Amino acid sequence: MNKAGRSYSDGGQCGANYPNRTWLSVIVLLAILTGPCEVSAGKFWNLPPLPKPHEYGDILIDRLSTKNEVKPVFFSHWSHRAKYTCRVCHWELDFAFKAGGTEMTEADNRNGLFCGKCHDGKLVFGHTEDKCQLCHTGSKVSNREKFAELRDNLPKDKFGNGINWASAIRSGRVKPLYSIFKPEEKPWEFRKRLELKAEWNFVPPAYFPHGSHVQWLDCGSCHPEIFKIKKKTTEHFLMKYILDEKFCGVCHLRVAFPMDNCKRCHPAIKE
Ligand code: HEC
Ligand code: HEC
Ligand code: HEC
Ligand code: HEC
Ligand code: HEC
Ligand code: HEC
Repeated sequence: MNKAGRSYSDGGQCGANYPNRTWLSVIVLLAILTGPCEVSAGKFWNLPPLPKPHEYGDILIDRLSTKNEVKPVFFSHWSHRAKYTCRVCHWELDFAFKAGGTEMTEADNRNGLFCGKCHDGKLVFGHTEDKCQLCHTGSKVSNREKFAELRDNLPKDKFGNGINWASAIRSGRVKPLYSIFKPEEKPWEFRKRLELKAEWNFVPPAYFPHGSHVQWLDCGSCHPEIFKIKKKTTEHFLMKYILDEKFCGVCHLRVAFPMDNCKRCHPAIKE
């Protein structure tokens, strides 16, 4: 219960230089939540910079490439997630939720693992001499026009890709594949919505809807590694850890809508 030890970023016109961090935190939080000051809530946290909508979720993989004198590998989430759920790649094909975190080699790919499960020259381009540079681009090269076309047809959101992916899948406007091995497999009917109350009663609770998540993910994507399965047993469920890529921050910093969107998790928060 070391509340004094929580470090909020000191930035912002409301905070000024209070020597005591506990009070600084309280004042900053009150300012955020009661809103006498015009600064938007997001400015008090060290939120990572937001890429442009067509680049949100784009990554470069360079665990082995540079070392082996090829350019790093480009991967775009929006172009893939419109066709495949997270579950296909991050559960069935075993990709890590971290760029460079998967132990994958070119040989694995050519043997039909990882990217090679789909990039086999049949379903989509494969690992032949004329195609190397489509993956080994060395930079993020998401296709703006293709993105604009996709986004135009999908429900909008303020942050991230600017697409409300939860609503897109719910309404059937995207129909990403749930399983690449068992086409008949369907998401579990598990819709429990959890209220995650803050320890401080002036912070409006965050909500976690299982229903919107299990369409994209497997129970095993989150339990037990990211969250214990019993409510209120995950310790240190605090924004500072979330912003450190733990808990909700595993996905909601770089691929699922970003943390800037306070209201989507804390519907009653004042922005
Ligand atoms: C579908 C995407 C894709 C294509 C096409 C592709 N690669 Fe790769 N390649 C990867 C990925 C992913 C890695 C792992 C990257 C990393 O960790 O840096 C990789 C790694 C490599 C490595 C690093 C060393 C090793 O053994 O893993 C070399 C060299 C390489 N590729 C060469 C090639 C060549 C040559 C071609 C064309 C014949 C090619 N790649 C085509 C995705 C691709
Ligand atoms: C077609 C495959 C594919 C799909 C679908 C996919 N991902 Fe990924 N994702 C990857 C790969 C590949 C990486 C990089 C892994 C590596 O480098 O080891 C990655 C990395 C990530 C990362 C880390 C990003 C970073 O900057 O470090 C997050 C978070 C993530 N994915 C979340 C998701 C979520 C959430 C979904 C579903 C909405 C999703 N992914 C769908 C393949 C996919
Ligand atoms: C589950 C299947 C699947 C996996 C796994 C997969 N891809 Fe793809 N990828 C596709 C399909 C299908 C397309 C064609 C998308 C379209 O219709 O435009 C594609 C397109 C691409 C493109 C073309 C540009 C774009 O983004 O549309 C690149 C580059 C690419 N993939 C890289 C990768 C890399 C690198 C990996 C592994 C780290 C990977 N893909 C894993 C299915 C997959
Ligand atoms: C992806 C969901 C999500 C988003 C987006 C989000 N939060 Fe949270 N937040 C949580 C969860 C989960 C908790 C822990 C449970 C609780 O305190 O309600 C939390 C806790 C908090 C707390 C309690 C104190 C603390 O240190 O954890 C504050 C204050 C807070 N959030 C403010 C914000 C603000 C301001 C934003 C927008 C910049 C934001 N949150 C965006 C999920 C989110
Ligand atoms: C995106 C992450 C995520 C996915 C996917 C997910 N859960 Fe959860 N689950 C959570 C979180 C967060 C909690 C709350 C943990 C806490 O409070 O410590 C939770 C709690 C639970 C609880 C306890 C609920 C309670 O009221 O005590 C059960 C049971 C549960 N999950 C089952 C499942 C099942 C079954 C699936 C798959 C159908 C699933 N979860 C998928 C994140 C997830
Ligand atoms: C493993 C990845 C992952 C984790 C961990 C995760 N989410 Fe999500 N979440 C998603 C994806 C994917 C979506 C679909 C929307 C999108 O991609 O922007 C989503 C959507 C949501 C939505 C919107 C639901 C709707 O129907 O509009 C809320 C709210 C949300 N998440 C809250 C949370 C909270 C709170 C936590 C932590 C307790 C959390 N999420 C943890 C991946 C994740």
